[in-house]
Amino acid sequence: MDCFRIEGPTRLAGRVRINGSKNASLPLMAAALLTDDPLILRDVPDLRDIRNMASLLEELGCSTSREEDGSLHLHVTDPSQSHARYDIVKTMRASICALGPLLAKRGYARISMPGGCAIGDRPIDLHLRGMRALGAEIKLVGGDVVATAPRLVGTTIFLGGPFGSTVLGTANVLSAAVLAQGVTVIESAACEPEIVDLASALTAMGAKIQGAGTPRITVEGVESLSGADHRVMPDRIEAGTYMIAAAITRGDLELENCPYDSLLAVTDRLEVAGIDIALTDESSDRNRAVVRVRAEQRAKPIRLTTQPFPGYPTDLQAQMMALLTLADGNSVVTEKVFPERFLHVPELSRMGAQLFRQGATVVVPGVERLVGAPVMASDLRASASLVLAGMAAEGRTVVQRIYHLDRGYERMEERLCPLGAQIERVDDATLEG
Ligand code: EPZ
Repeated sequence: MDCFRIEGPTRLAGRVRINGSKNASLPLMAAALLTDDPLILRDVPDLRDIRNMASLLEELGCSTSREEDGSLHLHVTDPSQSHARYDIVKTMRASICALGPLLAKRGYARISMPGGCAIGDRPIDLHLRGMRALGAEIKLVGGDVVATAPRLVGTTIFLGGPFGSTVLGTANVLSAAVLAQGVTVIESAACEPEIVDLASALTAMGAKIQGAGTPRITVEGVESLSGADHRVMPDRIEAGTYMIAAAITRGDLELENCPYDSLLAVTDRLEVAGIDIALTDESSDRNRAVVRVRAEQRAKPIRLTTQPFPGYPTDLQAQMMALLTLADGNSVVTEKVFPERFLHVPELSRMGAQLFRQGATVVVPGVERLVGAPVMASDLRASASLVLAGMAAEGRTVVQRIYHLDRGYERMEERLCPLGAQIERVDDATLEG
């Protein structure tokens, strides 16, 4: 199994291009099931989760191919197979994205129920509530959700849950409603930029959608959708991770293709922590901008609460906590989206961080230095936080189970090393002692 061997401390400097968004790409890929025509997606990152979604689509009769220019071509050639089996769903929860498109286009979907997950319970009750409201009959058969509906019918659906809106739940209901009969209103819809990106691709396919990016989305169902050629938005979580990497190494990075306006809650917190962030060209497209991130001093302590968009994203909580372990004072981090998402806490503590957790809040009295140690990656973003901490820590850090990181970051070591990081990917069987 691969691990990262990181020597620290290092300082990052230089330019890095942000890839297309993983979390936007997954529901966009599933949208290929809504049409008989080819769907072309550009800037889809080459990641394990994306390859898993491609395998799932192949099983569902949708051919997938990556062309030389990097674009992903998706085309349904055999609509007879509508069963997403446990083998694939267990590798990737986003398989649930196939539910809405299958149901809307084929009138039938059988999707293995996603199981538990390292970052918390992750139920799908809101997805199912949405499909039922659109008229689907839903049963649980042998661990699979079996949904049927000869034709979905538009209605008003409240999609809020105990932790606010649901991103993939909104994507699923939106993708189903585009082919429903009549008008659907989704209330308490997720406002994440990935939903706006999905709505813009669906609109290019012929859907009639208003209000994406706000808590109320209105969809007027159409009879059929065509193909489209869509460029995926840049990955705001990758961009935020590299911003925090610049901060924790007291470096100087320029991020190209950076979705600046989707990261305002993050840049706000970084600026309060004393990090200098600037658009290099104010007149450029603010969602594909060049952004310079510089940190000359030790970070100042901050208070941070994760929230659905436009609040601070849960997917950048672990990385920011790594930075705060080295801040000059006491920080407080509260997780309001996935209250159990703290698997990085014991691992950062192994590196000398001071972290005191109570429920969904962690108090972080900053220390002057972290010390390299063997640590274990346990989920995607926790892994990223350990890599950032490893670059700032003194001595050698070995991050094991790096396959979690590979789900969401394309060859992170190959992108960080030219900037000054010392990271080697090695097989952990070859490590001494
Ligand atoms: C998406 O997951 C992202 N995944 C997650 O990113 C991200 O952490 C999350 O949104 C929140 O921003 C993808 O886009 C593939 P939710 P999603 O439904 O949509 C509760 C990463 O690191 N809830 O918005 O599955 C849920 O338990 C990943 O890239 C219900 O109660 O998350 C949570 O507390 C990990 N019932 C809250 O809502 C439901 O039916 C928000 O979850 C669904 C969700």
